[in-house]
Amino acid sequence: MPVLSRVAERFAGERPLEGVKIAICLHVTAETANLLRALAGAGAEVALCAANPLSTQDDVAAALVEIDGIEVHAIHGETLAQYREHLGALVAGGPWIAIDDGAELIEALHSGDDPPAAQMIGATEETTTGLVQLRALERAGVLACPVIAVNESRTERAFNDRYGTGQSTIDGILRATNVLLAGAVVVVIGYGWTGKGIALRAAGLGATVIVCEVDPLRALEARMEGFEVMPALQAAARGDVFITVTGGREVLSEEHFGAMRDGAILANAGHFDVEIDLPALERVAGSRRDVRPLVEEFEINGRRINLLARGRVVNLAAADGHPSAVMDLSFASQALVVERLVKADQPLSAAVHPVPEEVDREVARLKLAALGVEIDSLSDQQLAYLKVFSPAPHDG
Ligand code: ADE
Repeated sequence: MPVLSRVAERFAGERPLEGVKIAICLHVTAETANLLRALAGAGAEVALCAANPLSTQDDVAAALVEIDGIEVHAIHGETLAQYREHLGALVAGGPWIAIDDGAELIEALHSGDDPPAAQMIGATEETTTGLVQLRALERAGVLACPVIAVNESRTERAFNDRYGTGQSTIDGILRATNVLLAGAVVVVIGYGWTGKGIALRAAGLGATVIVCEVDPLRALEARMEGFEVMPALQAAARGDVFITVTGGREVLSEEHFGAMRDGAILANAGHFDVEIDLPALERVAGSRRDVRPLVEEFEINGRRINLLARGRVVNLAAADGHPSAVMDLSFASQALVVERLVKADQPLSAAVHPVPEEVDREVARLKLAALGVEIDSLSDQQLAYLKVFSPAPHDG
């Protein structure tokens, strides 16, 4: 993670986060460990809990505790009660800043009449689903601290969502099933940046890709990319592999399960396990059995439907999540945004704010340098031409 390393080196010299208490709810992976080390090296007091019960890599959690002396509340396969307890432990620590993936920590910091969030410098959010929740809090007038929408930065959208989720979702499905995607029909439900990445990679492996969308512009874009576009119920009868990535809920439900072919595979790449209607799947199935680790087979009227990773985010539950090359960009942005929150002259308002463009540019610049890629820059004359109104440069 060369970009994060550069930031960490500067942080270690300048110590911009001396004594700042940071509560972090992220997937407990090696990439997250590097972010924690960068923040701790900047002088922050950090504590970590997991953003999902199935994504924790226990060796990483143990290393953070034993080698770095960092407070970690996470264990792979933790129960819902443990998960909540771990969030509670971070809230009890009285953080000044929260870094979240899914908004559950920020929401927990909003509980009670005197929510701890009101005393905080601010928070950052790593995922689209979390931002949906936080904007709902903002609309309801109860958001008590500024939140920086790291997920919506240009580097995050273009690289993390498209290439990170695109590749790691396919990776999770292949690791869990070893299915051949060449010649298969892959149905991608949701064509945001993550859906675009998944569709791109599935097509690259030789699958026929069908996209299901509710947004007409995105649907049109999918069609013009060359994918088939149709309602999910129609696609249900065609697909071999279904991937939900909408940020919504119950996008695959009883009616879809009833229409699916024998051997269909269901995977979710959205943050929460509500995109595939699991209670409905259990209700309509005649029987259920484990066929491989992370593959459950449900029998419905003689047809077998295979659910991966219990409907939890498949790229982290069945694979290692995004490769470090893209988490490098996200976590460098996170670190730089936290520094800005701490150093801000004026406190930001209690609203959802974009990542400052300079942070995006700095991260992209550092990544290009790490890749050894040089780019052109505009001359003064070219800059002036773009900034100042001028008549057409050529006659006739
Ligand atoms: N989200 C997706 N991939 C991740 C990773 N490798 N580490 C932390 N969070 C992630």
